[in-house]
Amino acid sequence: MYTPKNIHTLSHLTQQWLQKEKTPEAVYYATTNIEELRNVLRFHEYQYYVANNPLISDYEYDKLYKLLENTEKAHPELVTPVSPTQRVGNSLNQNFITVPHLVPMLSLENSYNKADLLDWDRKVRELANMPAIEYTLEPKFDGAGISLVYENDVLIRAVTRGDGVEGEDITNNIKQIRSIPLTAPFSKHGIQLIEIRGEVIMSKHAFERYNEKLAEQGLPIMANPRNAASGSLRMKNPKEMAKRKLEAFLYHVSYYTKLPANNTTVSALLQTHAGMLQLLWECGLHAPVKEQKIVQGIDSVIEQVEAFEHLRDTLPYEIDGMVVKVNNLALQDLLGMTSHHPRWAIAYKFKARQATTVLNSVEFQVGRTGAVTPVAKLTPVAIGGVTVSSISVHNEDYIKEKDLKIGDTVLIERAGDVIPQIVKSMPKLRTGHEKPIHFPKNCPVCNCPLFKEEGEAVWRCVNIECKAQVVERMIHFVSKDAMDIKSLGEANVRRFYELGLLRDIPGIYKLDFSAIAQIEGFGKKSIENLQQAIEASKKQPLHRLIYALGIRFVGETTAKTLANAVTHLFDVEKMDTLALQQLDDVGVKVAESVRHFFSNRQNMAMLEELEALGILCFNEKRAEPQTGSLHGQSFLFTGTLTQLKRSEAEAMAEQRGGVIVGSVSSKLNYLVVGEDAGGKLEKAKKINTIKIIDENEFLSLLQQ
Ligand code: IVH
Repeated sequence: MYTPKNIHTLSHLTQQWLQKEKTPEAVYYATTNIEELRNVLRFHEYQYYVANNPLISDYEYDKLYKLLENTEKAHPELVTPVSPTQRVGNSLNQNFITVPHLVPMLSLENSYNKADLLDWDRKVRELANMPAIEYTLEPKFDGAGISLVYENDVLIRAVTRGDGVEGEDITNNIKQIRSIPLTAPFSKHGIQLIEIRGEVIMSKHAFERYNEKLAEQGLPIMANPRNAASGSLRMKNPKEMAKRKLEAFLYHVSYYTKLPANNTTVSALLQTHAGMLQLLWECGLHAPVKEQKIVQGIDSVIEQVEAFEHLRDTLPYEIDGMVVKVNNLALQDLLGMTSHHPRWAIAYKFKARQATTVLNSVEFQVGRTGAVTPVAKLTPVAIGGVTVSSISVHNEDYIKEKDLKIGDTVLIERAGDVIPQIVKSMPKLRTGHEKPIHFPKNCPVCNCPLFKEEGEAVWRCVNIECKAQVVERMIHFVSKDAMDIKSLGEANVRRFYELGLLRDIPGIYKLDFSAIAQIEGFGKKSIENLQQAIEASKKQPLHRLIYALGIRFVGETTAKTLANAVTHLFDVEKMDTLALQQLDDVGVKVAESVRHFFSNRQNMAMLEELEALGILCFNEKRAEPQTGSLHGQSFLFTGTLTQLKRSEAEAMAEQRGGVIVGSVSSKLNYLVVGEDAGGKLEKAKKINTIKIIDENEFLSLLQQ
């Protein structure tokens, strides 16, 4: 079994397997050494998901994973339940059985200020009869609590918090979280059975991507990463769960039994909480050892919690406070529990990002796709330094689900930089004067009747001439991620539209600048800037144009996929829904929407007009081939190459499916270094996932 300690042996074995993987006998070899291959894969899962220090590229990992998969397909008798391939279950969760926790999951007492902490410390010292206590501090992860049980080094169960005494068995879903190993060498520490507590979280980044996806599909977005994480745990389909990019932190050992042979030896690690976390870490679990602090006395605790609160926004995940724990486990035992919480730990809660306010009215806004979005107007309230006065309440179902009424007191929340959301209404505070929210039957802008498609929650205005839609489409077209016409912007689009200077998207390229010059606030310089920005947008790459068209369900990623599939925009018109569905991540819904857009005569006339006006409709940089030995690998060249011209080298990498990038970042796979390389090389040295190679190594990479 691997341990994170034998990194050199495993790195060496990885290289051997990567060589073998290329040979025709690879599967044959793997059948006789399958456990070694599995340990190599487990090791890289650990490096990637737990240690945050990947040592091979995703491409290389995928190759080795495929080899294991193929070997197991050819020899099903070799499959074991803890093989890395066994995370992805094929069956749906029918129901979630209720199971007891080995030890009840208590919650923590809360503290909100220095005085609360001092008071708690005084009680601890009195009970312990000690002048000062050694404490540990960890982030209070804002996710969904779980418990894991490993027996004889194998993950046998994962359970939701439930009512604290029993929860639901979510083992199949938890196996989708790559930072939770299916096997862990607890026996090395003399442990036979262990129950571990932790938190499943969704990082801020994954949460934003997830909400973008929901929004693209016209579904209501989630209020915060916590809801997104806890909502995922009980999903029917484990594969869906896998897509959500969840992570876990394991922060507490609630119970363990020792192996019979070990009943006299007690590892030093088992004597303190910090030691326990270290033990978890050494067994390959994602324990917050790097995040944890050990301090002497409550004054240092107070210093640390204050320092951490400032760091809150810089962390990649949400935390809502810190947890302070007595480090010595014997002392923890002595202090014991009340009926609600342990006496040896306390949560220090950061300033709330929730607030209550009153929902005064609801306005209905029409978006570029005709979707009518209700927006709640609130009595302005400050949360986390931002004043919130209106919040989208998404659609009719959402209003029903949250039981919202005009006049209601509502709880709102702002998670980090995320758009504020209504968490819930407070029916208990109702006076009887609250009014129901009536959804309009007709478009609030053009008065056409609204429609709702079967299975959808959104009412739509289907009049594509509707003024609101026309304006919103233009605003989207010029926006930053679309054609990025900076000087135009939302305010000017509205202004020009109201003045009759702009009626549709092609009109952007036919603006009458002499008329604009008459408008107050438009000087010579601002007109020049506007002209330049519009002119520059004509050369935007094709994927931006496709995204700018505002086709339903076509976000930036799908726009790139479409652009990469064609040489000219009009090639998309020739693709039927089946051809479209061959593309990555294009399902029926997206394919139909694309077809719908390109089979509309008005839309095609608009595209022809755009092309005639000089807008680039060609895919100048037809995407790299989807195959090729360097597919998916990114390259950056720095310094002077001696054998190749830089442009030649770049073209060679691209021909084999590589991508050329402009700067050093953690996304870079290879930095190819020529003579007199400078800053880029220095920067790349600090990111240990980047492979730094010279020209010769680059050439031999091309040969492979
Ligand atoms: S220790 C017996 N440590 O906060 C005590 N809990 O409000 C075990 N939480 O139920 C809990 N981060 O779900 C602990 N570093 C951390 C935590 C943490 C988040 C959660 C946990 C707990 C809740 C209490």
